[in-house]
Amino acid sequence: MHTRARYQRIAPWYDLLDLPFEYGRYRTIRPLMFEGLSGRILEAGVGTGRNFPYYPRGARITGIDISAAMLARARARLPQAAAPVELRIMDVTALDFPDASFDNAVSTFLFCVLPDDLQGPALREIRRVLKPGGRLRLLEYTRPQARLRGAIARLWEPWMNFAYGAGFDRDTERHVPEAGLIVERTRFVSADIIKLIEARAPG
Ligand SMILES: C[S@@+](CC[C@H](N)C(=O)[O-])C[C@H]1O[C@@H](n2cnc3c(N)ncnc32)[C@H](O)[C@@H]1O
Repeated sequence: MHTRARYQRIAPWYDLLDLPFEYGRYRTIRPLMFEGLSGRILEAGVGTGRNFPYYPRGARITGIDISAAMLARARARLPQAAAPVELRIMDVTALDFPDASFDNAVSTFLFCVLPDDLQGPALREIRRVLKPGGRLRLLEYTRPQARLRGAIARLWEPWMNFAYGAGFDRDTERHVPEAGLIVERTRFVSADIIKLIEARAPG
């Protein structure tokens, strides 16, 4: 099933299904995405707008998503946004913005959804719209190395794939430098399962 169709289907249930993870795991790590960021910020795969409360004050955000149904839910959440947000329907692999439009870009749990062959095109597009020196932060799932957690993740994966088109096996960290971005730091922010990748555009 195409990702757009998948998210059109799941949008009404998305926040409910994600609730245990949102409160158990994501709420404390989402603010890390925006520490020290300012100016014009692109959020790719904005979803239902779960990052809105953590946007840096004074910044201007453009949130894009491939699913109109997810964006509709984000629109309903706009009053929670800590900074002005423009929402647009758009595919991250074909961004309708001029080169060097954004000071920074962020994305949470988009690259674990994007199939392997779209990771490079998506990252090259983000690099293109970032100003020289602009920062990119990605929050992504990885497959845990610890044996027990790894086994639990394998049990979850068929559901994650069916519901969200997501996998724990994406190789985003390798695709980032291949797209011409400079990796500055990677670290686990939730056990050995969620990674924060920090990179910047050259220049
Ligand atoms: C797992 S959800 C994450 C939503 C949100 N970022 C969050 O942290 O809750 C992935 C989102 O990426 C969007 N998406 C998937 N493929 C996309 C693409 N090619 N371009 C833009 N958005 C996409 C989906 O519609 C969905 O809203």
